[in-house]
Amino acid sequence: MKTFLTIVALASVLALAAAVLPDNYVTLSAREKQALQWSQVLESRYNLTELPSAFPQPTDNLTLLGLPEYLAQSFLITGDEMPGTRRRMLLSPFAVVCKVEYRTFKNSTSQFTGLFNTGGIGLIRLALDAIYGPPLGSLFSPTAVLKIYIDGQISRNFQHIKDVIGQGANHNFFLNNMSNIMDKGPNDPQAVMDAFIRTIAILPGDALSRPLNPYTLGLYEQASVNSDGTNVTGAIVAPWEQRLQGHAGLATPADSTNDFRLDLLNVLKEGTVLYDVYAKRSVDAPENELIGEIVLQSECVPSKYGDELIFFRQSREQWRP
Ligand SMILES: *[C@@H]1O[C@H](CO)[C@@H](O)[C@H](O)[C@H]1NC(C)=O
Ligand SMILES: *[C@@H]1O[C@H](CO)[C@@H](O)[C@H](O)[C@H]1NC(C)=O
Ligand SMILES: *[C@@H]1O[C@H](CO)[C@@H](O)[C@H](O)[C@H]1NC(C)=O
Ligand SMILES: *[C@@H]1O[C@H](CO)[C@@H](O)[C@H](O)[C@H]1NC(C)=O
Ligand SMILES: *[C@@H]1O[C@H](CO)[C@@H](O)[C@H](O)[C@H]1NC(C)=O
Repeated sequence: MKTFLTIVALASVLALAAAVLPDNYVTLSAREKQALQWSQVLESRYNLTELPSAFPQPTDNLTLLGLPEYLAQSFLITGDEMPGTRRRMLLSPFAVVCKVEYRTFKNSTSQFTGLFNTGGIGLIRLALDAIYGPPLGSLFSPTAVLKIYIDGQISRNFQHIKDVIGQGANHNFFLNNMSNIMDKGPNDPQAVMDAFIRTIAILPGDALSRPLNPYTLGLYEQASVNSDGTNVTGAIVAPWEQRLQGHAGLATPADSTNDFRLDLLNVLKEGTVLYDVYAKRSVDAPENELIGEIVLQSECVPSKYGDELIFFRQSREQWRP
């Protein structure tokens, strides 16, 4: 009896550990893809009294960052689930995931194309960066990764962070703006930066199809396709920077000692406007223009799927003038 229960328990662990998306997944509509991944999040949601916080060991760990071939996969795998036996977001292991709509404003005077024009639907993963490893929360550096689904095409992702060092003891998740351009600091962990530099160097393609440097992820791929799956015709106009600012008044307590996930769940509800989205066309552009907002289409949920199986490719293509 005991053995049988053990087998059942193991089988359910293995079931979740295997890829769950259908073979024709990429051909589905954006809405179907969003529903499939969201149902996996809901099915594997954690009990809030038992949120995992022990650092993932030993399948993936920071030593893997020393292998450019390993890190390169984060730019090359085009699916929405981790490949093979890979099971961890190395640098942000724990998160809440929420359904979102990226609403772009039609009054914007910017000429941005693709998703910056059409907007779209997707999932957002709100996490803490953990570049120095355990313990969780030894630094507080919020990140937000956005996945927008495209009808019949691979999804496009947007990574946002302020810097790797974080904001010290202030636990307000919405304290700082976050962007695809990460701030440099004197105490940035050189070993991790070097790992990214070595990885970028081995990516295939010409110089423009590799990120400029470990601090700068391009937005060109996101500007090249519309959410209905049509490609942008004519010039592709991508922002140099997309910046997220917590929507008016949104905050988690600065002096909180709670798990950040519980603090987020307290303030994030279906319908909440999460972020105002600002963008600027070039590095020299004087100011960021308000181009849209990110709105929650659901509650936010901490889950095994959202921590271990969902995958967010980092974009490779560089910005072009
Ligand atoms: C969550 O865990 C607590 C404590 O172990 C338990 O009392 C509760 O029933 C669990 N809830 C669910 C939904 O599993
Ligand atoms: C980290 O991963 C490597 C490669 O899989 C493994 O050899 C090593 O034992 C792991 N380290 C820890 C502390 O788990
Ligand atoms: C554009 O529209 C949005 C949403 O209605 C509004 O919040 C914003 O202030 C408008 N921007 C300008 C420049 O009018
Ligand atoms: C759209 O662009 C992609 C490359 O980004 C290409 O693979 C695909 O064939 C294009 N689709 C159409 C319908 O032109
Ligand atoms: C966030 O970005 C907006 C738009 O550029 C700017 O007005 C605001 O001051 C920034 N906030 C912080 C805390 O840097």
